[in-house]
Amino acid sequence: MSFLSATNMTGGYGAGPDILHDLELSVDKGEIAVIVGPNGAGKSTGMKAVFGMLNLREGAVKLDGTDITGLSPQERVHKGMGFVPQVRNIFPTMSVRENLEMGAFIRDDDFEPTIEQVYELFPAVYEKRNQNAGELSGGQRQQVAVGRALMTQPKLLMLDEPTAGVSPIVMDELFDRIIEVAKTGISILMVEQNARQALEIADKGYVLVQGRNAYTDTGEALLADPEVRRTFLGG
Ligand SMILES: Nc1ncnc2c1ncn2[C@@H]1O[C@H](COP(=O)(O)OP(=O)(O)OP(=O)(O)O)[C@@H](O)[C@H]1O
Ligand SMILES: [Mg+2]
Repeated sequence: MSFLSATNMTGGYGAGPDILHDLELSVDKGEIAVIVGPNGAGKSTGMKAVFGMLNLREGAVKLDGTDITGLSPQERVHKGMGFVPQVRNIFPTMSVRENLEMGAFIRDDDFEPTIEQVYELFPAVYEKRNQNAGELSGGQRQQVAVGRALMTQPKLLMLDEPTAGVSPIVMDELFDRIIEVAKTGISILMVEQNARQALEIADKGYVLVQGRNAYTDTGEALLADPEVRRTFLGG
């Protein structure tokens, strides 16, 4: 069984209609899994379901073999999940360093070494450590958001569009950092709008359409699939 195994996820928001239909998402240890698909396909909703922010009508989420379907998001953080949401993923009026400290909220041990690791991974975060996070560029904010999520030392890092609104060069740099994180054994589950580039670094890719799994394969195979290329990757 995969390190993260989310199966048959079906459900929606509150009493509203189902957004997810029988959705399956899984990630192995140290693997990068990428979710792509059109706007409104349910990519963010799928991530929220894995993180426990949605009441699933059906399905199960297992982490490292343990069923965590009934756990709250905070309990899932204790189990080793880190989540960077698509929007509002930093505290703009707090300093960069305070953002990282907030990320460590569940820890009662010395988290200073983890802050140093984040500074090493993202030198720009170190340079801006005393500035308000709201004053940073889009790419720098995303680095703070990823750094904040790393503060709990997650085993599974979930990123919803980490490269949204950043330049191609910053996107490449962020992907390189994400690869570095995965090489330390952390599993990555990532939603990406830059589908082609993201699938290039993906061990596994999911194409979602209308809350369902449309295509699942290695990143390489999806990039080579003429139907996937034509419909989702712009030819
Ligand atoms: N908080 C919410 N309450 C009710 N419906 C929602 C909520 N958030 C999203 N939805 C609905 O769920 C569906 C899927 O939205 P979702 O945000 O998961 O798509 P997405 O694939 O992440 O899109 P995008 O690429 O634009 O980020 C949409 O129809 C959307 O209107
Ligand atoms: Mg989304």
